[in-house]
Amino acid sequence: MKSTQHDGRTILLKGGRVIDPANNIDKTADVLIEGGRIKAVGSGLADRADLVIDCRDKIVAPGLIDMHVHLREPGMEEEETIATGSAAAAAGGFTSVACMPNTTPPLDNEAAVEFVLRQASRANCCNVWPIGAITKGRLGTELAEIGQMVRAGAIGFSDDGESVASAVVLLRAMQYTSMFDKVIIEHCEEPGLVKGAAMNGGVTSVRLGLPGAPSIAEDLVVQRDITLAEYTGCRFHVAHISTRHSTEVVRQAKQRGVKVTAEVCPHHLLLTEEACDTYDPMFKVSPPLRSKRDVQGCLEGVIDGTIDCLSTDHAPHAKEEKELEFLAAPPGMIGLETALGTFAKALITPKLLSWPQMIAKMTINPARVIGIDRGTLSAGRPADVVVIDPSLRWTVDANTFRSRSRNCPYQGWDLTGKAVLTVCAGRVTHAEPGMGVEVDAAVCV
Ligand code: DOR
Repeated sequence: MKSTQHDGRTILLKGGRVIDPANNIDKTADVLIEGGRIKAVGSGLADRADLVIDCRDKIVAPGLIDMHVHLREPGMEEEETIATGSAAAAAGGFTSVACMPNTTPPLDNEAAVEFVLRQASRANCCNVWPIGAITKGRLGTELAEIGQMVRAGAIGFSDDGESVASAVVLLRAMQYTSMFDKVIIEHCEEPGLVKGAAMNGGVTSVRLGLPGAPSIAEDLVVQRDITLAEYTGCRFHVAHISTRHSTEVVRQAKQRGVKVTAEVCPHHLLLTEEACDTYDPMFKVSPPLRSKRDVQGCLEGVIDGTIDCLSTDHAPHAKEEKELEFLAAPPGMIGLETALGTFAKALITPKLLSWPQMIAKMTINPARVIGIDRGTLSAGRPADVVVIDPSLRWTVDANTFRSRSRNCPYQGWDLTGKAVLTVCAGRVTHAEPGMGVEVDAAVCV
């Protein structure tokens, strides 16, 4: 498991609104960082740090954790690399990302997991936690080398991009991963139903003349997998949930005590299938943008705690691919650099969640799902911290992003709320110009 190297300097984040949901903290305080770790959180901590940063009117929180990103390395380095993805993460306030194994070749063995960790260590900008493939080649037939990948540092398993079609293969995977207490993260779309589909199936897809897949494609797999998780006792996580019904299925399973968790992405809270009216492939994503009723169902799930985590599914794609016609273009949107602003727009501005509630879903909750020692400001923990300006208004311009790709559906949107400083293992990995702080040398190429 990868940590960025820390330097010896002490940093004092002074006078911010410190929000640390894991410790039930929401108060004005200072945060002192020493030797790459959190030294103390409290009032009136000494000013004799090497670097003192005024955090008045800002939120100081654990570094954000995105448990669902695509970093495209190895194999699709023209879209993203572990270094550019780490830099994009830092710019978005993230200090940890878990990367999906649908690379070329896929992350389905020990050497591939070690490669990711090595590249992350070279980039030295963000903790990168590899997710191993469930099946060899992500082909859905033969289990991958799960035990060896766990030893190499894989924190969970997924064939993301597709569901594991075979119930017996997933059953064995769940039995196997539960021996290591690792989570199965499933992309829930019934393969037969989504084959050839470009968007959500319904009146809108018929009107647009685009092939659609019904939302039950997701519901069926969520239902099946929860049954398997209940039987095996495996920890099971629903990736990018997008329907009202599957949210309800997760809600009921939780009530029965099934070890199920779920995440939702900004686009499934802010956009509906009507965005496809433009035939702009920027709005093509898998699972697809859904109906208003589904969006409302997901929002209710976020509010009542059915949905534990907020993830981006950051999915970079090359310009020429996203310029193809809707049917031919690949699904996916980038999200790391807009996550805070878009989630704030969906949840904070309409007062559906408080900042502590939203931050919990972007820090300690995903940390618990993937089993990493991050997501809090407890003394002694690695100093992964974000400073957020909750009232900073900014306009999205993907051309300025650190990600190598530009497939952002929010281009030109006005957002409120931004990470103005990111500290990973005690080193500054991102600082907005207004903060008057230099990014540490040798991080973030
Ligand atoms: O839209 C998507 N794009 N959904 C996925 O599950 C995979 C991702 C990708 O890798 O491009």
